[in-house]
Amino acid sequence: MLAAQPPMGWNSWNRFLNSNLRADIAATTEKEILAQAKAMVDSGLAAAGYEYIVLDDCYQAKRRDHLGRIQTHPHRFPSGIKGLVDQIHGLGLKFGLYSVPGTLTCAQQYDDYNGDDLGSLNRELIDAESFVEWGVDYLKYDWCRAHLNDGLIAEPTFRKMAEALKTANADIVYSISEYGLFEPHKWAPEFCNMWRTTDDLMPNWPSLLRTIDLQRKLYPYSKPGAWNDPDMLQIGNGELSMAENRAHMYVWAVLNAPLMAGNDLTRMSDEVRDLLAHPGIIAVDQDWGGQQGKVTFADGDLEIWSKPMSQESGFKTASVLLNRGETTGKFDLNRIFETSTELQDVWSGDSVAKGAIDLAAHDALLLLSR
Ligand code: GLA
Repeated sequence: MLAAQPPMGWNSWNRFLNSNLRADIAATTEKEILAQAKAMVDSGLAAAGYEYIVLDDCYQAKRRDHLGRIQTHPHRFPSGIKGLVDQIHGLGLKFGLYSVPGTLTCAQQYDDYNGDDLGSLNRELIDAESFVEWGVDYLKYDWCRAHLNDGLIAEPTFRKMAEALKTANADIVYSISEYGLFEPHKWAPEFCNMWRTTDDLMPNWPSLLRTIDLQRKLYPYSKPGAWNDPDMLQIGNGELSMAENRAHMYVWAVLNAPLMAGNDLTRMSDEVRDLLAHPGIIAVDQDWGGQQGKVTFADGDLEIWSKPMSQESGFKTASVLLNRGETTGKFDLNRIFETSTELQDVWSGDSVAKGAIDLAAHDALLLLSR
């Protein structure tokens, strides 16, 4: 089964958003992507489970070739997709690529990226065949206003590419992104491996909370091979503090969300690396206990998101205690968990006594129970 566990990797997009939130096109180069891939290996993230390097928007040449195939920008990506994929595979990693179902990519729409016919509209099969020929392992297929620009309808349009991939015999994780506009959780599980549930997550606390809130009702829809995707990680980017980064990682883990790092892996701090690579958090994210996390406790700014853990894990539940507020909050663990329950702090591995505990503003704690 493809994506039997939530896919993990690194995606180029969040890294190349500059402070004006516009794509840093000049920085999107083969050299840079390879540097990130090497850093994924050297930093230990690959050993921790991160495996895909996903090249998002802004790699394309202005035009397709005479056979109608997508080409890479000749100066920024001199080896072409195949050359790049071979190098990524040579590092023991997998490769993901971006395309859109309509005529315009999002960078064409919003960042004045130059090009004609870059999208896969009416070229689904030739693109699927190219992806297979190049050895692509993962496709990010991004809606980008195709209903407004091209009059397309989401479900049949995304299905068309799923069918093209099938016809091309592709062994490719199919990751779609329509920002939750058309209730993708209701139809995407049939033919997609993951679907974005929100618009773009930005590297700040209000955006993080907004994104988390949009996951509340989605727990019935994900399962192995088909995951809700609350967007790529912003850990290590923008304004997020270390406590906020922790909250971000913990919530994604109980949601069984795909973990696609989006920071500069060549320059991350040890703290950020240790958070992204933490084996206990990753184990929670990758463990399927029958349902992704949902809210199980709420009291003002204090919330708990919990999910069941599989029997093999040796635990009953994984729970994130989240303080959304601006002041320290108090959780009474005696009231929240049954008397016989034993608790373990995933970060430290230490057992946790069941009294009242303080949690700082914008911070979180990830607990396993048994
Ligand atoms: C949209 C997507 C992003 C990224 C950009 C690329 O905004 O949501 O994740 O792929 O397009 O232009």
